[in-house]
Amino acid sequence: MLDNDGPAIDWDSMIFSYQKTDRMYISHCKQGGEWSPGVMQDFQNLSISPAAGVLNYGQGLFEGLKAQRTEDGGIVMFRPERNAKRMQSGARRLGIPVVPEEMFLNAVRQTVIENTRWIPPMGKGALYIRPLLMGSGAILGVAPAPEYTFLVYVSPVGPYFKGGLKPISLKVSDKFHRAAPGGSGGVKAIGNYAPGMVPSKDAKAQGFAEIIYLDAVHHRYVEEVGAANFFCVNDGVISTPELTGTILPGVTRASVIEIAKDMGYDVREEKVDVDYVLNADECFCAGTAAVISSIGSIQHGDKVANFGDGEVGPITRILYDELTSIQQRRIPDERGWTVSVE
Ligand code: PLP
Ligand code: COI
Repeated sequence: MLDNDGPAIDWDSMIFSYQKTDRMYISHCKQGGEWSPGVMQDFQNLSISPAAGVLNYGQGLFEGLKAQRTEDGGIVMFRPERNAKRMQSGARRLGIPVVPEEMFLNAVRQTVIENTRWIPPMGKGALYIRPLLMGSGAILGVAPAPEYTFLVYVSPVGPYFKGGLKPISLKVSDKFHRAAPGGSGGVKAIGNYAPGMVPSKDAKAQGFAEIIYLDAVHHRYVEEVGAANFFCVNDGVISTPELTGTILPGVTRASVIEIAKDMGYDVREEKVDVDYVLNADECFCAGTAAVISSIGSIQHGDKVANFGDGEVGPITRILYDELTSIQQRRIPDERGWTVSVE
């Protein structure tokens, strides 16, 4: 059922931006201790020591998933247990106490339930769920913080890229890399994102929607797009960069691979040479925020490759329709990927 007291939002003109909502979840844990029973509270600012580990040394992780309305007015989340597991692997990498999967799932469920009036009508966007896990205790030496905070807040969102489904233009970064072998690129560490802000802002100032990063060793293989995984299609073969520890293992990426394989496509997780990409028939990127976004052109140095004459490529379109139909339960969810929130 849609709430009658919904907020006065023009759902049709929403973009991917922050909107304060009503309620948030919060829990705390001392290093070596147990997580306190999480509580729901009114959305509010945090009170935190200036010496907090997260503020000084970036000891923090975030997640991103969506809750959406279905045709019958229900609410569903997409594969939230994957986000729970990815946050656990990030916690292990950054020396943060692991949040049990059940606790994570309850936290996101409860936060959605207590903010239902902010969920857009079906097809008009989603409620973006943002779990955060951080070293909130004070520490001066470079070491894991003595205390941690896990919280969840939400915000209604529209399309990540301006123009919605319109194919985007991307630029290959010739100066910057996102992650190096042995670093933290394979987990959703908050510190992975600030170094991408200036490259991304510069690309946007030149009319591009985002940056494509190449690998830091050979500067030759595509890694990912700012905040989404990369795919290209060549003669019907779908290729996506293999997971080597420098690329975020996207939930959308894994879902697209499985859907495409089940449809009979040849899907390859492999090294994807940027020159191969420039000769592809179709390219797209995939992520929770980006969903599946068609790529219309890629600039690399003085080369520009155009794909699909301004139209979304046929295989990209098929995969987009299938993925979003499953996510909104417009077709049967045979894999059990959607989770009802009730
Ligand atoms: N790559 C990066 C760097 C991201 O931030 C995201 C977003 O979460 C993704 C890929 C896509 O991951 P997912 O599909 O789980 O949202
Ligand atoms: C997501 O897709 O959830 C992301 O992480 C994108 C975000 C960095 C805006």
